[in-house]
Amino acid sequence: MSSHGFGIDVGGSGIKGCTVDLDTGTLVGDRLRITTPDPSTPEAVATVAARIVGRFGWRGRLGVTVPCVVKHGTVLTAANVDPSWIGTDAPEVLGKEIGEPVVVLNDADAAGIAEMRYGAGRDVRGVVVLLTFGTGIGSAVFSDGELVPNTEFGHLQLDGRDAEDIAAASVKEQQDLSWEEWTPRVSRYLAALESLVWPDLIIVGGGISKDADRWLPMLENRTRVVAAQLRNAAGIVGAALAAHTGFS
Ligand code: BGC
Repeated sequence: MSSHGFGIDVGGSGIKGCTVDLDTGTLVGDRLRITTPDPSTPEAVATVAARIVGRFGWRGRLGVTVPCVVKHGTVLTAANVDPSWIGTDAPEVLGKEIGEPVVVLNDADAAGIAEMRYGAGRDVRGVVVLLTFGTGIGSAVFSDGELVPNTEFGHLQLDGRDAEDIAAASVKEQQDLSWEEWTPRVSRYLAALESLVWPDLIIVGGGISKDADRWLPMLENRTRVVAAQLRNAAGIVGAALAAHTGFS
């Protein structure tokens, strides 16, 4: 019998959840997506998360990702969600509403955990950096498969601004940039990152990774760059895996 887990991925625009097959790292059936409430306060997000869990009838420990630095359950930053998350005991607030034990972690860290176990980072040693290009830019860093949690490389400074304000997928959309216009921005961002951490492999994820063929070949970087394999399921899968393995 395969073992199942449950994950919820809280993003700036949508909250997505699904049961996960932890043997294969795949979603069991279709995920459910509900638009992120505005304002995206912890209480409002907890209500949506509880609806998702209820819809699947999940019982037991589950994982929830947030686009925030999370240290031992306490949220310390809130770049693309309501600032009232800062200082919140997230497992407490979410667990109370959902009625099941909850493990909370950074969204990019969750995506990275999933890719390292089931996807593009499987069996890769050395330093691996996973970057998610979405509303912002998230990062997860692994050394010989071990996560260094809460890296925030989306906020690396480029031209005196946060890199995610220049090279996130949302910027491409908002400014209606072509692949030829957007990709050099990503190259410049990766070059800045490469000069600081010298990775062996960079994995690019987020929704835009499904179009990897359109822009990966145009990157001009030292490090090998590959597309994430779990696409937009990575956050959900990583959250479920983190809950299963007792991430704290
Ligand atoms: C946040 C990160 C998050 C990333 C992707 C950034 O703005 O600071 O914590 O991982 O967005 O959502």
